[in-house]
Amino acid sequence: MQRESDRLTPLYARLLLRLTRPFPNFDVAFIGPLRARATQAMHLRAGDRVLDVGCGIGGSFLFLADAVGPSGEVLGVEISPATVAHAQRRIETNRWTNVHVVQGAAQTVRLAGWYDGLIMFGAPDVYASAKALENILPHLRVGARIVLFGARTTNGVAGKLLNPMLKLAVSKLSFATTPLPDAEPWHLVRAVTENLEIREYFFGAMFLAAGSLAQNWTAALKDAVTNKSGA
Ligand SMILES: C[S@@+](CC[C@H](N)C(=O)[O-])C[C@H]1O[C@@H](n2cnc3c(N)ncnc32)[C@H](O)[C@@H]1O
Repeated sequence: MQRESDRLTPLYARLLLRLTRPFPNFDVAFIGPLRARATQAMHLRAGDRVLDVGCGIGGSFLFLADAVGPSGEVLGVEISPATVAHAQRRIETNRWTNVHVVQGAAQTVRLAGWYDGLIMFGAPDVYASAKALENILPHLRVGARIVLFGARTTNGVAGKLLNPMLKLAVSKLSFATTPLPDAEPWHLVRAVTENLEIREYFFGAMFLAAGSLAQNWTAALKDAVTNKSGA
């Protein structure tokens, strides 16, 4: 059982979980303002239902729960059972009755009903996976906001220094299947959204992207996958 949980928990998360076990509300301080900006970009209203896929220990929950209010709902999806347990402790500590977390892979998790927004914060295994998007997007309303934050490669001097570091960190600390950052990790999400806006942070090594789910997203996703594999 422990082995299975370890297999589903990336190395960095195992280290983080050990350090933060006594602190259910832990988050890295400089990430807070980025979570606030990501939440703003979701244009959430009171009563909305929102998905946080690859939710980790639930660092975005507070921002999302505030945005949707007590009549709304936040559902976290997370592959790692140990990480889900921490997210659950966060939910209980804060006595949120409208925030829930389920353990499962974005590619196969069973969702019910409709959602008004999707956030994939630091979750390349989700936003760069066509299978994950195929599984999740049918549960979003057309026009629902989709927001993603993550690492990317960049040009120039900063890129020369940061790109190898980013790639090394991802390859050593994440799953073997986690996609390495490239110049446009939002590639699939751009195909399924309208007006995807991209902002860069940390010398272009991190990005925040936000757009609205397009009506024809199914065909657009197929095209994007075919074009990429044919490229
Ligand atoms: C870098 S963490 C980010 C966590 C969180 N979103 C945050 O902002 O702190 C990425 C998370 O995605 C989870 N993850 C990786 N692959 C996944 C998948 N296929 N389905 C669901 N969660 C996944 C990892 O276990 C990890 O907790």
